[in-house]
Amino acid sequence: MKRRSFLSWGAAGFGSLCAGVGVSLAAVLRFLTPSVFYEPPQSFKIGDPADFPYGPPTFLADEKIYIFRDREKGFAAASAVCTHLGCTVKFFQTDHHFHCPCHGSIYASDGKVLHGPAPKPLQWFEITLTRDGQLRVNKDRPVAAGYRLMVKA
Ligand code: FES
Repeated sequence: MKRRSFLSWGAAGFGSLCAGVGVSLAAVLRFLTPSVFYEPPQSFKIGDPADFPYGPPTFLADEKIYIFRDREKGFAAASAVCTHLGCTVKFFQTDHHFHCPCHGSIYASDGKVLHGPAPKPLQWFEITLTRDGQLRVNKDRPVAAGYRLMVKA
């Protein structure tokens, strides 16, 4: 084997070795880096109290919640996520019930299950008033169905 040929094969081998080490290091770094799934914030402002009408609940599609506003009782926030398999329930003004389009569960207006297969009632979330006068819903803080926030209009 000629000297030039030997050196070129050596350089190619060294290059392959460096590439292999680089790929291995990248794999080790990827393994050591935690895989994080970023969720949207669970506590968020939904707007001014005056933005929400009395009567039928307001559906906030992005947050999948219903906001109830009642003159005597105040504000409440209900989850629109069916407790069976997570479909979005729809509130019907005609019977004041939540209906799940996926498998037919029906919930009363207070979230109790009237008809399965839903195993649990709808969740209710804490709703508060921020210093700047906005309503804030915190999905990390479930509350009883009777929880209400009174806001002076
Ligand atoms: S997901 Fe609602 S009834 Fe199945």
